[in-house]
Amino acid sequence: MSTRAEAFDRWIRTTFVEMNTELEEIYFAQADRACVEGVGDSIKAELRDEGRAYVVDLWHEGNTGEGFESGFGVLGNVGLYMGALRRHELTNPDRDQRSPFAEASSLAMHVGASIGMAPRFATAHLATHNLAVAGVRKSFTSLADEFLFIDENTRGILGFQQTADALERIVPIGVSSPVADVLFEAAKAGLHDVIRSNDRLFSKLDIDRFFYSVRPYYKPYHVGRQVYRGANAGDFSGINEIDLLLGLCRASDTYYAGLLVDKMLFMLPSDQARLRECMTHRSLLDELLSLLDKHAYADWFQQNARLFLEVCDLFAKTAKQHHDQLVSRFIVGPAGELDAAHLEGLTASGPPLPVLVRSLEVLRDYRMAAERVDLDTRHADLKRLRAAVT
Ligand code: HEM
Repeated sequence: MSTRAEAFDRWIRTTFVEMNTELEEIYFAQADRACVEGVGDSIKAELRDEGRAYVVDLWHEGNTGEGFESGFGVLGNVGLYMGALRRHELTNPDRDQRSPFAEASSLAMHVGASIGMAPRFATAHLATHNLAVAGVRKSFTSLADEFLFIDENTRGILGFQQTADALERIVPIGVSSPVADVLFEAAKAGLHDVIRSNDRLFSKLDIDRFFYSVRPYYKPYHVGRQVYRGANAGDFSGINEIDLLLGLCRASDTYYAGLLVDKMLFMLPSDQARLRECMTHRSLLDELLSLLDKHAYADWFQQNARLFLEVCDLFAKTAKQHHDQLVSRFIVGPAGELDAAHLEGLTASGPPLPVLVRSLEVLRDYRMAAERVDLDTRHADLKRLRAAVT
């Protein structure tokens, strides 16, 4: 990392966090916690100007050829800075035609294009690639609820990644291999971890703190002329690898393919490659169904089909938790109490909340293989497989 990049990183980990936290405490103490404009203006100006000095230095320095890690770090830091400016209403895509932060936009676009990612901070910056320095990971604020959110999101992602890794390893040995059992067990263990992590979020995260002081940093914002959607905990390939390998979602489905295209540049290049690779495989469900008529009574079929179904059941549980517990408790519930003026820009991807919720429901139902007449889920196929397992 260059000296300038290091200096910016130090600021992001210290003063930036202090200023955001101070602003959050001021907003939260108000009768109307959603009121941000015209509040704490001197701190906001300091945050904007101090950050700009680091950004301008880095922008002048140009591409120092320090490699992916350094570029990724700078992209994350300029992204956290721009995300905070958006949160504090120093810019708002509903009002502005373009970002008022020209140097930060240029720096983000330069680095983003050079490493092959969207020019904004991504989930990986705060989760799987959030380097802790003496135990302290990057964050916007030092609020306990933000750390809880970041840490449990990361644990959830790590669990899904373990499951995806295990399922990938079944592909080269085939779903009829007797040794697929250890891989199915590893896949199950990853999902058990996700379930525990979701449970902790559900029971420990403070609804108001999350809604008013954490979530607003994940709104869409302008980089140059274009608005980039916010990051969400789903911006990693593992969840889609699981969808595709289990066969619950199909890359040929228009809705699902659109979702994959949308998230490509929000993921690390290594995740982008994994997802592309995964799209070339036949799903485990299709493999098992093609073997069912001839081999249903074979020991290997009974063992592996049972384990496969257990993985599907656990995965369904995580999908249900995400939608019916997390989205419902921490987004839909509190949004019901907001007035219309504050409802704009509520979601990370931008669409109005009811539209977003319906689209998340579709994902939940694919993953649960729910019985839906309007959706081509794998309900009937899973039923047929279940019937074959004695
Ligand atoms: C307080 C906890 C959480 C809340 C309120 C929440 C809410 C949301 C919302 C609202 C979206 C849609 C983003 C948008 O377009 O605006 C989303 C997407 C997503 N979230 Fe979460 N989330 C939470 C935690 C998690 C965790 C722990 C995971 C697991 C890693 C996760 C996985 C995903 C995934 C995979 C997506 C992308 C859509 C999909 O493929 O299902 N979320 N979440």
